[in-house]
Amino acid sequence: VDVDPSAYEHGLVDGRPRMYTEMLEQPASVERALRGRLDERFATAHLGGLEMDARELRAVRRVKILGCGSAYYVGQMGASLIEELARVPADAEPASEFRYRSPVIEPDTLYVAVSQSGETIDTLLAVEEIRRKGGRVIGLVNVVGSAIARACDGGIYLHAGPEIAVASTKALTTMFVGFALLALQLGRVRDLSVADGRRLVAGLQNLPAQIEQVLSTEDRIAQVATALAEAESLFFVGRVRGFPVAREGAQKFKEISYRHAEAYQMSELKHGPLALISPEVPTVAVVPDDELTDRNVAALHEIAARGGPLVVVTHAGVDLGELQAERIDVPRNERELDPLLLTVPMQLLAFHAALALGHDVDKPRNLAKSVTVE
Ligand code: G6P
Repeated sequence: VDVDPSAYEHGLVDGRPRMYTEMLEQPASVERALRGRLDERFATAHLGGLEMDARELRAVRRVKILGCGSAYYVGQMGASLIEELARVPADAEPASEFRYRSPVIEPDTLYVAVSQSGETIDTLLAVEEIRRKGGRVIGLVNVVGSAIARACDGGIYLHAGPEIAVASTKALTTMFVGFALLALQLGRVRDLSVADGRRLVAGLQNLPAQIEQVLSTEDRIAQVATALAEAESLFFVGRVRGFPVAREGAQKFKEISYRHAEAYQMSELKHGPLALISPEVPTVAVVPDDELTDRNVAALHEIAARGGPLVVVTHAGVDLGELQAERIDVPRNERELDPLLLTVPMQLLAFHAALALGHDVDKPRNLAKSVTVE
C-alpha cells in the first residue's frame, strides 16, 4: 500500500499514533526501497543515483558512514554489511564527532551520509567539509531535494514516504535496505560470488513478508514491553551484527519511555556493567542464529546467574537451554540481513513500554524530529 500524504496532516492517524502507523507501513516502505533496484539475472543491485561506474566502485578502498542518532546506528549496521559483502573496510561515526575532529579526507574513501530528513545540520556540515577537501560523498536520504541530498555527489533515495513521529522506524528500515543494496552492488563488482549475490537478492525480496510476520506478533511483544516498562533501568546487549540492533533498541526505549536504557557489547558486560545486573535491571539481548550463538547464550547465563531478568530477541532454532527468559522469535533471513528483522521487535518494545507509561509517543519531551540549527 502506498502512503497517502494527506493522512499525515496533524494529529493521530485513524486515532492511532503516527509512530504506530509508520511501523505498520514497513513492509510497504521496504518494498518501495527495493523496487526496480534488484537484478536477478546478474545477482546484483543497480543504484543509478550513485553516479559511479564499476571502475569507480572497484577503486573504493574504504567506506566511512556518517549520521546522527538512529541514522548513526543503522550506519553501523551498514558498515557490517559492506565489510561482509564487499570486503571493504567500513565504519560509522556520528557526523558531529567527525566534523569537529579535523578528519583526514582520503581520495579512495567513499563517504556515505545517512539522514531521514536530509536537513540535520551536523550531517550537512560534515558533507560540506568532505567535499571542500575533495572527498566523494553519497547520500542515503529520505526527503527528496533536501539540503543533504543536494550537497552530495550522488545517492540513494530511501522512498520511505513521509515520516512524522520523532522516533524513526520506517525510515530506519529503508536505510538498512539502502546499505544492503549498496553492499551488494559494491560486492558484485569485486569478489562477491554469483551464488552469494543470488542468496542476498532472494533474502531482500523476502523482507517485506517477514517484517509483516514480526508485526503480527505485536500482542506478545506488547506483553513483554509492559513488564519491561516497570524497570527504572535496562541493558540492551548484542554482539557484532547484533550490537547496533541493541544500540538502536536502547535509543528507542529511552527516547519515548524515558527509562534509562544502555546498550553494551555482549562480551564487554563482564568488564564492568555486570556489577549492575540485579533482579531490578532487565536485559534485552539480541541473539541471532549465527556463528556466535553459543557465545551469546553463554553470556546470557552470566546475567541469569546474577538474577537479571532476560528478554531474548532471537530465531526459532536457537536453543536457550535452561535459561529463564522471555523470548521473542523473528523469522530467519540471510544472516547478513538479520539485523533488520531483529530491529522491528525493538521498535514495538519501546512503543508499548511508552504506551504503558502513558507517554505521548509521537512527541517525546526535549526532542525534535530533525535538528537543523547548531
Ligand atoms: C534527531 C531525531 C532522531 C534522528 C536524528 C537524525 O535527533 O530525534 O530520531 O535519528 O535526528 O535525523 P535524520 O533526519 O538526519 O535522520
